[in-house]
Amino acid sequence: MPRKAIIVLVGSLVVLAIAIFALAQTRAPSNVTTQSGTPLIGGAFELTDHTGKQVSDKDYLGKFMLVYFGFTYCPDICPTELQNIAGALDIIGEKRRKQITPLFVTIDPERDTRELMAAYVENFHPDLVGLVGTVEQIKKMGKTFRVYFKKVADKDSPDGYTMDHSAFVFLMDKKGRYLRHFSYGTSPQKMADGLIKAMD
Ligand code: NI
Repeated sequence: MPRKAIIVLVGSLVVLAIAIFALAQTRAPSNVTTQSGTPLIGGAFELTDHTGKQVSDKDYLGKFMLVYFGFTYCPDICPTELQNIAGALDIIGEKRRKQITPLFVTIDPERDTRELMAAYVENFHPDLVGLVGTVEQIKKMGKTFRVYFKKVADKDSPDGYTMDHSAFVFLMDKKGRYLRHFSYGTSPQKMADGLIKAMD
């Protein structure tokens, strides 16, 4: 085969390979992104609930999940938001309440022990499940939910630090997929209205 022909043949094969690769790239993402505009929030997690049971996201499938990240030492934001969640749960009625698991996930794993979490969640609602874990487990779950949190020095706080954190309440569907979120300060009635609309 003349040298020129070999160069043309090799060149054509390279172009073909690039074309196939490009085509595969345009098709591949369909199973990792959701419908257009739906943010990728949520995913697999492994933590420990406030009763000491090892749990994962799979334990909560089949029900809606209401997920809030915070910490028990939080002076006001978290208690306010957990009260709003509890109020909304009371408004939606028992039938809907049975189809939803409210989760309070600590973002302060160094201080929030299982025992502390157990004592804390019962102040708010009997359905509320507190989740604790290792620093790594919490970091991983926070990342999948795109939650911001940061340890900041504060001499007036216990142990000399507090946690900066975002305060969204995420509603996930029965397959663990993001449905919507509620901003901090959403009233119990507004949250209940939103839950009813999303669940029906
Ligand atoms: Ni807080």
